[in-house]
Amino acid sequence: MSYPEHRARRLRRTEGLRALARETRLTADQLVAPLFVHEGERSRQPIASLPGHARLSPELAAEEAAALSALGIGAVLLFGIPTHKDETGSGGWDENGVVPRAIRAIRKRAPEMVVWADVCLCEYTDHGHCGVLRDGDVDNDASLPLLARAAVAYARAGADVVAPSDMMDGRVGAIRAALDGVGLARTVIVSYAVKYASAFYGPFREAAGSAPREGDRRGYQMDAANVREALREASGDVEEGADAVIVKPALAYLDVIRAVRAEVNVPIAAYQVSGEYAMLHAAAERGWLDLERAMWETTLAIRRAGADLVISYFARTLAERLGERAAQAEARR
Ligand code: PBG
Repeated sequence: MSYPEHRARRLRRTEGLRALARETRLTADQLVAPLFVHEGERSRQPIASLPGHARLSPELAAEEAAALSALGIGAVLLFGIPTHKDETGSGGWDENGVVPRAIRAIRKRAPEMVVWADVCLCEYTDHGHCGVLRDGDVDNDASLPLLARAAVAYARAGADVVAPSDMMDGRVGAIRAALDGVGLARTVIVSYAVKYASAFYGPFREAAGSAPREGDRRGYQMDAANVREALREASGDVEEGADAVIVKPALAYLDVIRAVRAEVNVPIAAYQVSGEYAMLHAAAERGWLDLERAMWETTLAIRRAGADLVISYFARTLAERLGERAAQAEARR
């Protein structure tokens, strides 16, 4: 059927009709909100490169988690910023480190909130790499027990989900075995199976002080040119025991999200990373684009590509807007 029988504009005439024809939806429980936790008492330190975000001490992180829970947000994803860094990243697996303390505070204050803890060494090592170094290179196999120890510390503190983002080979299997070995078979692993070496992590590294002192992460994170490799990573992690997988970054890798969706039958989360958030804010500050509209458009694009969940620095604002819409609908009744 073609014009004049088919009039595509018919379904675009009003918001009500557009809503009927809408193919992709977003709900607050599909959103995961990253939180940065640091040492201190009621301390809140804004992050310049991530407008609206701050490094929070554990009890403030718990208050934020409670507020996000009230908005219906699906989960929080915790990143630790320790005061002390060393060669092996010991702050990362310290049972009394900043992340376990934040997890315990959240468990108390917002027991219903689903807590994800990012597992990596780069925030905790003085050299800034995601594993331990030997002869100037990241030693894959020597890093595995340390990552597993961190995952166990977070799970013991009460994390529902551990999310390894280090990109060492075999870490999902090592973490699964370590968790099961201490009776934590119920702890979920969401692996950053497909994580590219990306320019878009800049603001995060500033927030976490985790830029490598020397070299870069191309020896372990993926090459932006590859998609077949992403499928191997994703199916490999699922075989090792990942319960869900992450593709990261999101916007420059929508084709990868789609391909991974077709490859594995576990939930997929896409991470709209710090640089994606910062660039929209920077352009909006100059008056070059409308931040609200760009926020919705990019988030929907990520869902449309096939992501079940979106990890996003916009999570709170998106959930607030969804809540406002629901309240307006309620008021019309
Ligand atoms: C830790 C980690 C990083 C991000 C999430 N986990 C930084 C990196 O790999 O350099 C980036 C998140 C973001 O940019 O928002 N390895």
